[in-house]
Amino acid sequence: MTVTLIATTTMGFESGLAREIRALGIEDVQVDNGKVSFVGQLTDICRANIHLRLAGRIYVQMAAFEAKSFDQLYEQALLVAWEDWIGPEDQCPVAQATSLKSTLFSRSDCQAIVKKAIVDRLARVYGRANLPETGAMLPVRVQINRDQVLLSIDSSGSGLNKRGYRVRTDQAPLRETLAAGLIDIARWYPEKETLLDPFCGSGTLLIEAALKAKHIAPGLNRAFNAEAWKMLSRKDWDQAREQARDLIDMDATCEIIGSDINERAVQTAKASLKAAGVTGVTVRTAPFQETLVTADRGKIITNPPYGERLGEKDEIEALYGAFGAHLREHYAHWRTYILTSFDEFEDCFGQKARKNRKVFNGGIECRFYQYY
Ligand SMILES: C[S@@+](CC[C@H](N)C(=O)[O-])C[C@H]1O[C@@H](n2cnc3c(N)ncnc32)[C@H](O)[C@@H]1O
Repeated sequence: MTVTLIATTTMGFESGLAREIRALGIEDVQVDNGKVSFVGQLTDICRANIHLRLAGRIYVQMAAFEAKSFDQLYEQALLVAWEDWIGPEDQCPVAQATSLKSTLFSRSDCQAIVKKAIVDRLARVYGRANLPETGAMLPVRVQINRDQVLLSIDSSGSGLNKRGYRVRTDQAPLRETLAAGLIDIARWYPEKETLLDPFCGSGTLLIEAALKAKHIAPGLNRAFNAEAWKMLSRKDWDQAREQARDLIDMDATCEIIGSDINERAVQTAKASLKAAGVTGVTVRTAPFQETLVTADRGKIITNPPYGERLGEKDEIEALYGAFGAHLREHYAHWRTYILTSFDEFEDCFGQKARKNRKVFNGGIECRFYQYY
């Protein structure tokens, strides 16, 4: 049985995500704004959730149709074979609805109508007046764009950024999927180049780089909604995990170095690296000037402070200036990639970037400056 799956992602990461999906051997891939749709086998639900580093969630597409009235929405939603996916005891909250440039704009009404259609259909098929909704979780999403309705079910559960290696979250870390996307944009080749993050904080970039270098699938150690779905068996999941484990290469050579001025952040990074099960990453407490790497080539991928608090502007300008001078003196042959929301970054850093890309970090508009 084939299914259409939708992997969501951060704007700007779509082509990287499409590359990851193709690397799973899936060819029917369609790139859109903030998402990549693809046609796969049922077991690709397991593989996509386990392997994709840049995906936020994996949805199973249930239906796509036009609706300009609530009646049409109800009738079309009633035609969907929900019972193939949702068992008589399962939970199917219509948890999310969006509407853009469409006749049906009341999201709460659309949610209620789709829910009614699903419940009516399941009650009829299962011959039950009441559905207990105590079993597996199948959250339904309704998206309407120019009167085109897309109904899908979230197979992931918590966002795929939740890899399970975070030990503390008190340092405002980068989202894991964002870190993986930045490493992808920087095209870091682990076997050839050293990677350095001199403002590593809790180490998200280092950990994501190490997972990639060692071919460790990011979702190997977490649970997903679809593990309890009747459509997939325990064996499907065990096999997908087994295959992912077979790909791990702990001996793969790579040099990943991180440092941060904050001792507590470094301790967090070390604990998370351990929890992620990766080795070969060096992390130490030091101001960026004191982290000198002898390799004559490599990539610096980093996320320095942005100076969002009042009164920090002068300090941040000085920090960026000193960082720019330091890189030009010691890392002339390296490529540098810097994520910051600070508007005058290039002026302070003392050099115009070759390229920059707009990226949102937890709702903050940032630029990913690229120097080479
Ligand atoms: C935006 S945070 C990095 C967050 C990190 N990417 C993560 O995922 O946790 C910036 C970091 O720069 C560190 N920092 C500030 N000034 C520094 C300096 N002069 N040298 C080295 N690190 C510094 C801070 O301690 C903080 O951890």
